[in-house]
Amino acid sequence: MKKCLIIYSSYHHGNTAKLANAMAEASGAEIRTVDRVQDADLDQYEIIGFGSGIAYGKHYDKLTKAMNQFRVQGKDVFVFSTSGTGNINYNAALIDLLKKSGASVIGSFACKGYDTFGPFKLIGGVSKGHPNSDDLAAAKKFIQRMTT
Ligand SMILES: Cc1cc2nc3c(=O)[nH]c(=O)nc-3n(C[C@H](O)[C@H](O)[C@H](O)COP(=O)(O)O)c2cc1C
Repeated sequence: MKKCLIIYSSYHHGNTAKLANAMAEASGAEIRTVDRVQDADLDQYEIIGFGSGIAYGKHYDKLTKAMNQFRVQGKDVFVFSTSGTGNINYNAALIDLLKKSGASVIGSFACKGYDTFGPFKLIGGVSKGHPNSDDLAAAKKFIQRMTT
């Protein structure tokens, strides 16, 4: 198993935190929220994962800001997200930024996450129950492919 650090931000319903925890459980990766990452020494890790919920079509600003703090040049990285729709194309902007910073993007993962933002609240939200056990199993498989 390669040594892996997962950095994430999750505030809406803790959806992305569930993914990060499942990934850590399956791979032995360390996980840190963006608020607790300042003193992390990236050189200790062979792979870094960046994940958050999606707001207005992009990863949370907090995650992007945290990512910008680090020198990711030459690092193997992966990206993940949860969103109301689960659209993996939402990962594209962060992947682009990472590539521009010289990182090697080795994977991308996305799934649905319970969403009560804006008008969705009125109808009880969308993607209720997500991430579900299938989503978490897929996330575990994904990280095992990255780290073994
Ligand atoms: C301010 C805001 C904006 C959002 N924008 C989108 C969006 O553009 N597309 C989408 O599919 N989901 C959107 N969502 C839903 C969240 O991405 C989804 O609920 C996600 O799983 C939340 O992750 P978290 O619980 O880890 O914070 C939005 C949610 C919030 C609160």
